[in-house]
Amino acid sequence: MKIAWGITGAGHLLLDSVNILEELSNEHEVTVMLSMAGEEVLKMYGLFERVKNVTGGYYRELIKEKDQESSFPITGRLSMGKYDLLIVSPVTSNTIGKIVNGIADNLITNAVAQAGKGLVKTYIIPVDFESGDLKTVLPSKLELDLCEKCETCEAAAACPNDAITPGVEINLLNCKGCGACQIACPFSAVTGGKIITIHMRDVDILNTKKLYEIEGIEVLAHPKHLMKVLKGVLKEQ
Ligand SMILES: Cc1cc2nc3c(=O)[nH]c(=O)nc-3n(C[C@H](O)[C@H](O)[C@H](O)COP(=O)(O)O)c2cc1C
Repeated sequence: MKIAWGITGAGHLLLDSVNILEELSNEHEVTVMLSMAGEEVLKMYGLFERVKNVTGGYYRELIKEKDQESSFPITGRLSMGKYDLLIVSPVTSNTIGKIVNGIADNLITNAVAQAGKGLVKTYIIPVDFESGDLKTVLPSKLELDLCEKCETCEAAAACPNDAITPGVEINLLNCKGCGACQIACPFSAVTGGKIITIHMRDVDILNTKKLYEIEGIEVLAHPKHLMKVLKGVLKEQ
């Protein structure tokens, strides 16, 4: 199958999404599309190279929003029905809010809109799925209560991207998620993969509910459900 896979800037479900993306790309031609935030966040979690490695070749491209201009002609492939399906996982509250309001102003929201026009079935895995609190994972973080503000910061010295301002913070836009800082700090003041609880806002949950009303879109709770769904799609073909 030819599959288009969009990634937005969500840390939640990102690792699970990349795991399934890798699995699918072994058997199918997968074009990966990254929102600007999707690319940044993949790097922060140290997952960008894994995504890059599954791409290469015609219909196996890595399409970055930042390399596109305003009309996103690549998404014309979807309106022409060149893909068997579009998967977007994970999907931020921002992108869901746009989709349910018919907005198509970036690579991913255009891909969803054009898929609808080309009758390409779209599977969406939103971060904001259920009301209540959600446990999610952070990228590298400088824990100021553990930081001893050493004269020479070993974590900053170990960082190949100059992302650490000693005793202050990690500039996540420079961080590539390599984890060298976590190993280097003798006081374990840099954490990676710390779990935090975030509250799901009603407006975001409401937007996710509206997704179910949009023709051609199927909402899934977790990327792990994709394999079963795809088996069904293959059977129908
Ligand atoms: C480390 C990190 C993790 C994030 N995780 C989420 C998330 O899980 N869900 C979400 O809705 N936004 C998350 N965001 C915020 C989005 O990246 C931000 O709203 C962005 O503008 C979304 O753009 P996009 O929808 O075009 O990808 C995260 C941002 C950062 C820096």
